[in-house]
Amino acid sequence: MTDAILQQRERGLLILQLNRPDKKNALTRAMYTQLAEALERADADPAISAVVIQGSTECFTAGNDIGDFLEQPPSDLDSPPFHFMNSLLNCRKPVIAAVAGAAVGIGTTLLLHCDLVYVSRDARLRMPFVNLGLCPEFGSSLILPRLLGHAKAAQLLLLGEGFSGEQAAAWGIATEALASGDAAVAKAREIALRFDTLGPGAVQVTKQLMKSVDREQLRQVIEEEGALFTQRLRSPEAIAALSGFMARH
Ligand code: COA
Repeated sequence: MTDAILQQRERGLLILQLNRPDKKNALTRAMYTQLAEALERADADPAISAVVIQGSTECFTAGNDIGDFLEQPPSDLDSPPFHFMNSLLNCRKPVIAAVAGAAVGIGTTLLLHCDLVYVSRDARLRMPFVNLGLCPEFGSSLILPRLLGHAKAAQLLLLGEGFSGEQAAAWGIATEALASGDAAVAKAREIALRFDTLGPGAVQVTKQLMKSVDREQLRQVIEEEGALFTQRLRSPEAIAALSGFMARH
């Protein structure tokens, strides 16, 4: 385990911290694998009652590492980003996200699959998939229009417009918006520790019930999005946009 993912235990809580500050916590293949394996271990460990995923007080994550997308684009649904998202989707324990600063691409998408999401009011969320020649991923093309209506979801997915933590909470993408700095992390940890005092059986059955209604449709959409996303990564549109980002940095 490298220190790009820090793991900390606090009673029954596992805290997974994205820790690649020089690259705004952009997620590499190795980081996805570490996150996936940590979630799988947490799921199987009866001593763990909840998991927190957080970045720093300045940045949650700039999304997938763009260099990785160019050099080793995921080719199938077993590749590291899919492994991580499947572990998140399959985790029976509550997963709580704490977001401050930028949450871009998969950094916003993954929030749609967490159980509770605490954000700084001034957090900056964005899914610039179309802007990068790509398409939505991991169910966002299903979940966001349902949550926000087509017109508002189109603003986020077709135009790739950014939005604040305050808006995320108002729209139901986040649970609560808090002051900037470490308030979101502090709240996420405080709330996550409550699961230590709740019966794990009741918590898990409730989560399962809440997720089971859409499970089959979500699985189909994720598969369709995944196939299109991996194709699009190899398209001239995406290669030009991703190379443009790398050239500017
Ligand atoms: N992949 C790889 N490297 C990334 C990255 C990414 N997704 N996002 C940021 N970085 C790197 C930059 O290349 C830069 O590296 P350098 O210092 O070696 O040049 C460093 O992180 C700092 O980024 P910078 O853009 O200067 O920081 P900022 O504070 O001005 O902006 C962001 C932060 C997150 C808003 C901005 O970096 C950004 O938009 N990143 C791209 C996010 C993206 O499109 N992700 C979606 C992928 S599907």
